Amino acid sequence: MRLLQHMSIEKRLLVRLSIQIHGDSINALSDEFYRTLFQRNPELREIMPDDAVALNKKFFNMLAVFKGVKHLEKIESSIKQLGKRHFLKYGAKMDHFDDIRTALLLSLETVLASKFDDRLRDAWEIVFDEVASIMSGGLPDEGLSEKSIPITSITSSDNGLLAEIGGRDVVYAIHQRLYDVLFDEPWLERFFYGKEKSVLVRKQTEFMVAAFGGENHYQGDTPAFVHMHMMITEEQLSIRETALYNAMKDEGMSDDLIVRWLQVDRSFWPGLIKQSVNECVLKCTGQRAIVIEKPLGYHAPKKR
Ligand code: HEM
Ligand code: HEM
Repeated sequence: MRLLQHMSIEKRLLVRLSIQIHGDSINALSDEFYRTLFQRNPELREIMPDDAVALNKKFFNMLAVFKGVKHLEKIESSIKQLGKRHFLKYGAKMDHFDDIRTALLLSLETVLASKFDDRLRDAWEIVFDEVASIMSGGLPDEGLSEKSIPITSITSSDNGLLAEIGGRDVVYAIHQRLYDVLFDEPWLERFFYGKEKSVLVRKQTEFMVAAFGGENHYQGDTPAFVHMHMMITEEQLSIRETALYNAMKDEGMSDDLIVRWLQVDRSFWPGLIKQSVNECVLKCTGQRAIVIEKPLGYHAPKKR
């Protein structure tokens, strides 16, 4: 099992590398992909967007998924949601995945020429199938409609916590304090440039309410997916944790509840932490990895 997993990671890295080194001719690959796809499956013109910019965007988005597969397990539920959007919103069918697979492999062969050797072909085939099978795991049950495309499922590791904390309003008040601090924190504030504080407070609250066993009104993606392009280190997460701790103290929360909240918060860390900028995954072209250097003379905040 271990060996299998190792092999699979190696293939995922090969696929990622082949996209990275190919960066500047992705447009040629995109053109070749659609030329092949529509020649073999003209009916797919009906499903795919009808202008060149949107077609390219779809292609880049698709490649970004393959680039991000090193930690496929971490973003599995997002890929499932992606699958659901495909079946419910875009009108994709299972057969279309074979059409896309064939066109992608043929276009890689044409554009990469001799660089597309047996090893790389094998890696692409396996990685494509891995992703496609997770996406089809999002195949809707009978009766599901576009309207009910599920929001991210959030697993609660401490079901009774919401009631003990005092409900949604308390969670909201703590997040207001937290983001007031984060938007002024000398190192972390730069992640939040251009972001609307009140929106983040609301979304974070919806998310944590669900994670504490309350109703799930969260409409966003999983934290791993949302922060995919941000170079977030364990040190930065600890700084945020101190701010969260202080916010709870200021709100008069008991030590026992503070510990339980922080445990739930920490359960989301593994999906966020990156060891190097190479682990950042971009969702679309034009987006950049967000890397914030520690300011000179920086002092981390202290717990109260
Ligand atoms: C493993 C295979 C595939 C991957 C990784 C993939 C990935 C993506 C991604 C990331 C997006 C961006 C929008 C979103 O996040 O919902 C997207 C959009 C889209 N995909 Fe796919 N896709 C795959 C296969 C397919 C297939 C089989 C079809 C149907 C023939 C399809 C049709 C579309 C359409 C119509 C859009 C919306 C484009 C737009 O309106 O801008 N995709 N795809
Ligand atoms: C140092 C650590 C962190 C930083 C710098 C950070 C930064 C950010 C930023 C910049 C956004 C806005 C994204 C956008 O609008 O595109 C965001 C959204 C969000 N973050 Fe974090 N985050 C951190 C840790 C966490 C943790 C630990 C969690 C979960 C417990 C979390 C949950 C969320 C949620 C739920 C959203 C809203 C997503 C949405 O817009 O749908 N974050 N974060």
